[in-house]
Amino acid sequence: VTALLDRLLREPGMHTIESLSLALRLARADVSGQLQRLREAGCVLDEHPQQGVRLVHSGLATWADYIESRRPRRIEVYRSTASTQDVARRWVESGGDALDGATVVADVQTAGRGRLGRAWVAQPGDALLLSYVSAAGSLNHDQLTSATAVALAEAIEAVGPTLSVRIKWPNDLLVDGRKLAGILVERSRGAAIIGIGVNVAATPGQHTDAACLRGLGVTADRLTLLDETLRRLDAALTGAAGGDHVAAWRARCLGFSGPVRLQSDGRIVEGEVLDVDPAQGLLMRTRDGAIVHLPAATTGRV
Ligand code: BTN
Repeated sequence: VTALLDRLLREPGMHTIESLSLALRLARADVSGQLQRLREAGCVLDEHPQQGVRLVHSGLATWADYIESRRPRRIEVYRSTASTQDVARRWVESGGDALDGATVVADVQTAGRGRLGRAWVAQPGDALLLSYVSAAGSLNHDQLTSATAVALAEAIEAVGPTLSVRIKWPNDLLVDGRKLAGILVERSRGAAIIGIGVNVAATPGQHTDAACLRGLGVTADRLTLLDETLRRLDAALTGAAGGDHVAAWRARCLGFSGPVRLQSDGRIVEGEVLDVDPAQGLLMRTRDGAIVHLPAATTGRV
């Protein structure tokens, strides 16, 4: 059913059984049978006696097969889990092979987390929630975060070509100044576990200053966004050591202006940001004139 699902995802309008049968070189009865299998896997279809059928949204039970058909990788999709970061960490800690690119996705998390100990809350169906394992090699935390930010920004613009996605250092993606997505990089045994949350159908209730794709007029299916994101992450993390993403990152990155107040490693640092570097973090001149580097892993706005 993957080819049929792909067709419905890529062409979001109505399709007649006849046109699907021709495009996929399947007998009409087989098209009808496969549509039934998609329904059973949780896909919601809009059906019309003359106009045909259209995908309203994909079902979770189709996601793993669809993603694996695009590029073989370990992938698990959960209806609910505490945090996809924890599932991925268990994979890494149990020493599984071939984990580079392995992906955990959940419809909802009961203990989703953001950076610096913050909670990440989203209702079922509202967000794309995933953790991606990267062998990481020599990439440091800042390189992993910046390469991921570019890949995710490009994936979001691929499903929402009208959007202009900016990066708010180090890990937020903004549209029109409102947060659309966040990135959380954790490490275990030399691997990186890259967590991504994108607001798709709704903004988290407690954040009035957040954005979501639907609110921005983008109706793409979460599965399409997942596919676009993984494809770009695979490439971005391979090229990050050579700095392939740096120019694109700088072009999207919002600057700091005027005096800033940050917390870094539990201390408050005040001063002026001289540069934002995709591999080293912030270069800052503190109020007493010292030049310091503040890495993404431990630095946040107060
Ligand atoms: C942030 O904005 O601080 C980062 C948010 C990262 C959230 C994602 S959702 C999937 C993955 N699992 C988690 O528990 N967190 C990340």
